[in-house]
Amino acid sequence: MRFPEGFTWGVSTSSYQIEGAVKEGGRGTSIWDTFTQQGGRATGDEACDHYHRYAEDVGLMADLGIDAYRFSVSWPRIQPEGKGPASSVNQEGVAFYDRLVDALLERGIDPVLTLFHWDLPQALEDQGGWLNRDTAHRFAEYADLVGAALGDRVKLWITLNEPFIHMTLGYATGEHAPGHALLFGALPAAHHQLLGHGLAVQALRARTTSPITIANNYSPAWPQGGTDADLAAAATYHALHNRMFTDPLLGRGYPKLAYEAIDLRDGDLDVIASPIDFLGVNYYNPTGVQAPLPGAPLPFDLVALDGYPTTDFGWPVVPDGLRDLLVGLLTDYGDALPPIYITESGCAYEGVEDPQRVAYLDGHIAAVNAAMTAGVDVRGYFVWSLLDNFEWAEGYTKRFGLVHVDFDTQVRTPKTSFAWYRDLIRASR
Ligand code: BGC
Repeated sequence: MRFPEGFTWGVSTSSYQIEGAVKEGGRGTSIWDTFTQQGGRATGDEACDHYHRYAEDVGLMADLGIDAYRFSVSWPRIQPEGKGPASSVNQEGVAFYDRLVDALLERGIDPVLTLFHWDLPQALEDQGGWLNRDTAHRFAEYADLVGAALGDRVKLWITLNEPFIHMTLGYATGEHAPGHALLFGALPAAHHQLLGHGLAVQALRARTTSPITIANNYSPAWPQGGTDADLAAAATYHALHNRMFTDPLLGRGYPKLAYEAIDLRDGDLDVIASPIDFLGVNYYNPTGVQAPLPGAPLPFDLVALDGYPTTDFGWPVVPDGLRDLLVGLLTDYGDALPPIYITESGCAYEGVEDPQRVAYLDGHIAAVNAAMTAGVDVRGYFVWSLLDNFEWAEGYTKRFGLVHVDFDTQVRTPKTSFAWYRDLIRASR
């Protein structure tokens, strides 16, 4: 496999999943703190203790030889109440990310910063969270503050992580914080996130010359069963999961199913279509879709894809799905499609010896290569994740890291996949 010179190899993490230290450094409460205090759930209170061990973790990244590190900023570390003027910014929070960014730059690693990876300040949730249009404006203010602090050193900005997953698990089914189960009533949380994205792009442009993007979750919707109703169900699911978060960004407005559910105001679509420099693609697996049973609450039924190996999460391993997805984006959007970064790709498996993860990554990197050969402009690949971490609703039971973390002792142990990825990066230079 050949990758062009300058292709970026990286790893990704997110704040609540690794930082811990939830009550330190003046950090405010996030919706994940509140959510995990209920119902005996595992919490991110300590997670990987990265807040204290970031220097060790940057050392691991340097050993790995990555070009870039994607992390997220915890909004309530910067604005404990989710709002307020520049004078109310929590300087201790800013100082943590300052140190992290400088440590990365010292080791020659490009900082790639995500502004929002799901840990909304609880104070904003108390006013409706992303169901409240005002949160989009608060997000732009926060983007401006982080841009002012780090705009000179961050090499790539990512506004939101996976607005689809946050809307779906956070607001439609309630498996994630903030825990609302509104089904299609969750759609305003999509619109307000996308509006916040566009406003944040505009705010960041005034603070940095670095490129800006968003990291979307994509899942090809594969009809299972060949009836017209199955095909229609798959098209509906595709509109919801994929098109809803891409069409408006690239200037095409929303797919039809969105309009009746959201409060679209004059100018919103222009804000959302504020030009982005890249498209971030997070890919894990395709989704099997069938026609729903009569009377079912949703216009599609999600079913397992048979015939594929599965990860510890039960997710099918389908590298070709990534190639098809990338080629499909180019087919659907043509010249409007910006160059792509794979901002997340990875799998959950147990063990420090993890040949399945090596096979997974090998297959998915080959799929990216095949898509590039077919004409898709892909600039980089980020493995999810550097460390085993707090895997949201699954707590600590699903391990996505290239580095094993013993959550009792915080001892880090690089896995087989770590050495494999390091060698791949070296060989590609
Ligand atoms: C999220 C990560 C998560 C990963 C595995 C992605 O949807 O961005 O935060 O850990 O999937 O579930």
